[in-house]
Amino acid sequence: MAGQGTPQKRFQQRFQRGLRKGFPAGVKRTIVVHSGKGGVGKTFVAVNIARALADNGLKVGLLDADIDCPNALKTLEMDGDLIANAEKKIIPLEKDGLKAVSMAPLLGGEHEALLWRGPRLSRAVEQLVHDTDWGELDFLIVDAPPGTSDVPLSILQVLEGAEMLLVTTPQDTAVMDAMRSAKMAQRLKIDVIGVIENMAGVIFGEGGGERLAKELGVPLLASILLKAEFAKGARPESISNMANQNIFQ
Ligand SMILES: Nc1ncnc2c1ncn2[C@@H]1O[C@H](COP(=O)(O)OP(=O)(O)OP(=O)(O)O)[C@@H](O)[C@H]1O
Ligand SMILES: [Mg+2]
Repeated sequence: MAGQGTPQKRFQQRFQRGLRKGFPAGVKRTIVVHSGKGGVGKTFVAVNIARALADNGLKVGLLDADIDCPNALKTLEMDGDLIANAEKKIIPLEKDGLKAVSMAPLLGGEHEALLWRGPRLSRAVEQLVHDTDWGELDFLIVDAPPGTSDVPLSILQVLEGAEMLLVTTPQDTAVMDAMRSAKMAQRLKIDVIGVIENMAGVIFGEGGGERLAKELGVPLLASILLKAEFAKGARPESISNMANQNIFQ
């Protein structure tokens, strides 16, 4: 009942009030790519999973849910304006059979800063999810910002029924922060379908992904090397292979 519980719970309830929940009509599965830590390659992984699934002939949408620093479209080399259809729904941008929606075209310039607080951020997430004409999608892949508060929390609450895929780099600090994401998932009763280790190799070492996967009792789906060619846009083969695994069928 409203008004009960800890101050933290009451605050969350206020945030959530009136938010539309569940998948948009026509969307079969939603996978949120997440990690508590920034810069570990969530966008890189989300974009490449979306591309790999689309290459397999599936209908895929990518939601760039990084509201204040959206960069998935840049990684996808996609641009254009977001316009609305007659039903006032956003028409996603489209490239190579992949649909994408992001705040980027709405920010009015690559270097513009968005200074919004919690409730507006939650509302923006909800609108990008539910006021977009996604059509029929086998997968909606969500590129989430780091952390376990405002936006990531709103994504998981708005997209009730979503699954989570964790990204970590091999270092202990990244594993620790990815574990925080897993805890958030657990509290919200969200399934973690697997772990991807990114940036493995001589510089950061390896094994953090395996440790995290073991601790959570979920599969390590891929380990991707830190390589200059990936920073320049090359696609990792391990993600294409991963898209063929049963978990994505
Ligand atoms: N395996 C890799 N090898 C080389 N460069 C990589 C690799 N993975 C990601 N990168 C690069 O590292 C940078 C950070 O990656 P990315 O933006 O995907 O991280 P992120 O977790 O989404 O960051 P944020 O928390 O800010 O959203 C990008 O420039 C990306 O191209
Ligand atoms: Mg990112």
